[in-house]
Amino acid sequence: MATLVRPEATTVALAPRSFPVPTDRAWGRPRGARHAIGHVERTPQFTIDVRDQAPDMFVDLAATDWSKLTWKGVGKPYKTEKWSRARRDYESLHNAPLPVIEGWRLFNTAFHQFFLTDVPDAQVQARAQLTHALSHFDAHEAQEAMEDIVRLAVWNKIMRVEDAVWDPRGKRALFAGLDVKSPRILFLGAADGYEAMQLAAMYPGGEIVLVDYDAFCETDRFGKFPLNYPFLGVDASTGHKRVWYRDEMPISFEVADIRDLKYGKEFDVVVSIGLLEHFPDAHKAECVEMHRKFLKPGGYVVMTTPRNQFKTRIYYNIMADFMNHGYRELMDAMQMSLYCYENGLDILRAGVIKAHNGLIMKAR
Ligand SMILES: C[S@@+](CC[C@H](N)C(=O)[O-])C[C@H]1O[C@@H](n2cnc3c(N)ncnc32)[C@H](O)[C@@H]1O
Repeated sequence: MATLVRPEATTVALAPRSFPVPTDRAWGRPRGARHAIGHVERTPQFTIDVRDQAPDMFVDLAATDWSKLTWKGVGKPYKTEKWSRARRDYESLHNAPLPVIEGWRLFNTAFHQFFLTDVPDAQVQARAQLTHALSHFDAHEAQEAMEDIVRLAVWNKIMRVEDAVWDPRGKRALFAGLDVKSPRILFLGAADGYEAMQLAAMYPGGEIVLVDYDAFCETDRFGKFPLNYPFLGVDASTGHKRVWYRDEMPISFEVADIRDLKYGKEFDVVVSIGLLEHFPDAHKAECVEMHRKFLKPGGYVVMTTPRNQFKTRIYYNIMADFMNHGYRELMDAMQMSLYCYENGLDILRAGVIKAHNGLIMKAR
């Protein structure tokens, strides 16, 4: 059996899978104590980085004159159209498109599996599986093992070596300088809720509302997000730096379609991470409007999208069976800015971090 579980959508009920959570997770937090500021550690699943230092990668684009951007000048995004086997199987079985929400269920269960994987251990297993397959002349097993070896190498690099998925120092650089006190933060398409927790650590005392229509995100992606992962932020009473953990933040999770939310203009910050690029052009205005709709006057929209860079295109190609169940564009910061600017958002801060473009905006 392959080391990584392949997503399958060949039955009508696309029940989310549960993966066992490794029991030996030691994230370097001494019992009852806090990670020291400056702590860096590579665990078998991810990297902990509470260095109070500039990020490895942050290109500040805030000096751009956004009103001068045109589609002729910036060009259109790249589309990742190498579809997953699960999507192809579903569509040939049902002779109908895979419903968008089912695509997200497949995405979240498959992606979550990687977050839980003890990568060095899985790499040993995949290599042993390859040796076993070769010794039995089992071509199918050998191919699966080779695919696992490649995918695990890619995941190891982006998640553990480069820390490009969570990228805490890059995100802190992007989120810096918001004029908010005890903000209410709304996260649209929250998945694991990571960026809202980073924002709440930097601007404490408020509350977080996570919204995702995939219930697996409530139970697993956020529900099993490590309690001991440290977020570097501040202590509101002293203004000194301090480390926060998710169980110290008031967080609620609403399983709902973001198009059906009933909130008023009551949030200081509305955030989405990797949402805009899943809306084709005909629906971009609707996506931007969902961010503006729930903002208090003067509130901030925080948005990031994956970058159109060579290694990101390779990543979505190699990971297609796990990640590519639905529409996705890879764009650059100028294209992302133009989508937001032409749909009524003013750009205050713009940057490029390891894997994403990021914008901090206000409603015009
Ligand atoms: C690409 S993920 C966001 C990236 C995220 N940071 C991660 O780690 O996967 C987008 C999330 O938005 C959710 N989503 C997409 N459309 C939605 C909608 N209309 N209502 C609620 N959630 C939605 C999906 O279920 C998914 O969890």
